[in-house]
Amino acid sequence: MSEERNLEYLKVFWKSPDIEDAKHNKIIVGMNWDESINSHLPKILDSEINKFDRVLEIGCGIGRILKPLSFKFKEVYGVDISDSMVELSKDYIKEDNIEIIQNDGYSLPFDGDYFDYVFSLLVFQHLGSREMMENYVRESNRVLSSGGLFKFQAHRVSGLYTYNPKVDNYGFFGIGVDESYINAILNIAGFTNIDIRGDGKWLWSKAQKA
Ligand SMILES: C[S@@+](CC[C@H](N)C(=O)[O-])C[C@H]1O[C@@H](n2cnc3c(N)ncnc32)[C@H](O)[C@@H]1O
Repeated sequence: MSEERNLEYLKVFWKSPDIEDAKHNKIIVGMNWDESINSHLPKILDSEINKFDRVLEIGCGIGRILKPLSFKFKEVYGVDISDSMVELSKDYIKEDNIEIIQNDGYSLPFDGDYFDYVFSLLVFQHLGSREMMENYVRESNRVLSSGGLFKFQAHRVSGLYTYNPKVDNYGFFGIGVDESYINAILNIAGFTNIDIRGDGKWLWSKAQKA
């Protein structure tokens, strides 16, 4: 599938008619909203991250994780490919230090060397090609300042455009990746101190901009 079709597909798939659909059917698929936030926060916060000021989430949805982060960081940004997620975030996010922007699905619309911390949670498994993932890794390196951290979650199993009965739609998992691939793309992009941990079918990677 071409890159344009991948991007078009993601935009259509993530379009939500209202905030309840975005929250429960698309983002957390039946889980309790507050419990889902509490279970995911420890995965993206750790002691070294607490000293940072500027954070960016790739694929932030309506800002589920950005909201609690607004108390920890001075500037909190999110990008998302879905125009409706960005629109619905305006009802959900009232904090002055959070800004959510619609992006093109593969690049980060920020100057270089700006952020201390870039992360992505529950997003990279939806990307339709390795090129898209590699592009986000390169872009994350570009927008991070030296010493900044990049943390993302990916999935081992590929199921490109498979049917997901829970959301009665297609496309839950895009590409599957493994540790050696992630290690290679982080290295090529200029990251050091790479730490990749398996969590069942999921993988969590942490790396530092040199
Ligand atoms: C399962 S939701 C997770 C949202 C958020 N990270 C959270 O944990 O609450 C996946 C989000 O990724 C966004 N997304 C999918 N592909 C994307 C891409 N290529 N670039 C940016 N956002 C993307 C979707 O629009 C959707 O909001």
